[in-house]
Amino acid sequence: MSDKLTHPVAAQKAPIAMDVEAGKTYAWCACGLSKKQPLCDGAHKAGSTLTPIRYTATKDGKAYFCGCKESVNRPLCDGTHGKI
Ligand code: FES
Ligand code: FES
Repeated sequence: MSDKLTHPVAAQKAPIAMDVEAGKTYAWCACGLSKKQPLCDGAHKAGSTLTPIRYTATKDGKAYFCGCKESVNRPLCDGTHGKI
């Protein structure tokens, strides 16, 4: 039986702001195990059944990625972190 996590772990209970570029695609860490938050670093392959979610920025500027990994509006923070 696999002992990989099937539920995400919170990287932090707050959003992670990151500068993004319009048209560029980012792989958001859905599992919470990455050491390069908020982005995937491949750690899910060994530790989780979850896989990254792609996000393509529509404009230049800051994106507020979900750090708690519980957002309904993944990969962006929707305020859910305030309830956990
Ligand atoms: Fe978390 Fe890849 S390390 S999804
Ligand atoms: Fe996850 Fe805000 S950090 S909902």
